[in-house]
Amino acid sequence: MILGISGSPRKQATEHVLGEALKMMEEKGYETEMFTVRGKNISPCRNCDYCLREKECILKDDMYQLYPLFKDVQGIIMATPIYNGGVSAQIKAVMDRTRAAAAVDIDFLKHKVGMAIAVGGDRVGGQELAIQQIMTFYILNGTIPVSGGPFGSNLGANFWSQDTLKGVKADEEGFRSLKKTIKRFGEFLEKYPTNEH
Ligand SMILES: Cc1cc2nc3c(=O)[nH]c(=O)nc-3n(C[C@H](O)[C@H](O)[C@H](O)COP(=O)(O)O)c2cc1C
Repeated sequence: MILGISGSPRKQATEHVLGEALKMMEEKGYETEMFTVRGKNISPCRNCDYCLREKECILKDDMYQLYPLFKDVQGIIMATPIYNGGVSAQIKAVMDRTRAAAAVDIDFLKHKVGMAIAVGGDRVGGQELAIQQIMTFYILNGTIPVSGGPFGSNLGANFWSQDTLKGVKADEEGFRSLKKTIKRFGEFLEKYPTNEH
């Protein structure tokens, strides 16, 4: 299963682009699942270390809808809006709260394949840094980070929404970067087709 995580509190550009990415993966024959932070209550990690002792998170909020989804993940697509030149606080909270998943199984994302989508209101608003923040999360968890590849390179799918759904739909360059990244993502998934650690 390919798990898409949207880090936007709105049903706008980020969720739309992630939906398109998951459709492309379905066309390749993969099952997909989208988890969005929209409408969810996901608190920041408290670093209380309860998870290290008890193998579960002390914060019984909507992260408990996401934790079970990691079980069947082959590939993961994290999509974030750009807030202040980087990832949204919402997606960062998700990243930090996976500490509890790692406390249960340190390899919960190891050997999976990961790609990133960043959507900014500005053309150069911090998309690359946001993608690198997501890539760093993948590296830390042993996930294989995938880019759009060399030649017209990109680190992942990056979009210019001009703050609207209409804007992101019109961003041809963004969709070009998405298609390139999805192509490589599919290639890596074929090469490393594992649900096992
Ligand atoms: C708090 C906040 C900070 C933002 N900071 C940036 C920024 O630094 N760079 C940028 O390009 N866009 C920035 N934006 C604009 C959003 O990235 C843009 O509207 C994007 O399309 C939001 O994604 P969504 O439509 O999926 O919600 C910011 C928006 C908010 C709410």
